[in-house]
Amino acid sequence: MSRRPLVAGNWKLNGRADMARALVSDVVARRPADVDVVLCPPFPYLALVKELAGDGVGVGAQTLSDQQEGAFTGEVAAGMIADLGCQYVIVGHSERRSLFGEDNDMVAARFQVAAESGLTPILCVGETLEQREAGETEAVVAAQLDAVLDRVGIAAFAQAIVAYEPVWAIGTGLTATPEQAQEVHAFIRERLGGLDHTVADAIRLLYGGSVKADNAASLFAAPDIDGGLIGGASLDSDSFVAICEAAGN
Ligand code: PGA
Repeated sequence: MSRRPLVAGNWKLNGRADMARALVSDVVARRPADVDVVLCPPFPYLALVKELAGDGVGVGAQTLSDQQEGAFTGEVAAGMIADLGCQYVIVGHSERRSLFGEDNDMVAARFQVAAESGLTPILCVGETLEQREAGETEAVVAAQLDAVLDRVGIAAFAQAIVAYEPVWAIGTGLTATPEQAQEVHAFIRERLGGLDHTVADAIRLLYGGSVKADNAASLFAAPDIDGGLIGGASLDSDSFVAICEAAGN
């Protein structure tokens, strides 16, 4: 099964309008044609980035509410993100889980509203260093996946992306080796395959955690790694474009 590579940039709480304009124009001009490129700016810049990105580059939000409307001050609904023409939303990023208290059930609820609004969720899973050292990586990732599967079913994964992001590799400069990442990616694909082989073969599994221009190619060469979710290195167009190129042929 050949899967089209996808590289998504997660700007987190970074950038202002000037930076967004410069970075998006550069990425639009230089992106490789054989890779799906997605930009996930902070909420206030979604409309601007969507307008600049045109049809060639995808745009996504970094999180969303589990509610579609009502008295939920400060929240942003899936329907609003879709309304702007954005196609993607990151769900369950480890920073949302650890800093904002999103547990597996809350992540599953967000995945569900995203899917119901026609967005493509980028579901993040991954273990902490303590969990890895205790030999719990697969159990943690399985529980994170199963919470979503129990809620929405495997069919919803036909329109989803999963990002394996070991917490110990995010923003630390420590990257999983291609072997460590491949092992967990294969585990994720097998677990989904136990429910539906077609969905498991087609779904794109991204690796995230200190991906840089100089380590991207070796990670993306692993058979079950179909691209990356890039934090810090997505804020500089040279490094982000180099990473996108490493995902292509
Ligand atoms: P990083 O972040 O590339 O800065 O490690 C990745 C992520 O959090 O998605």
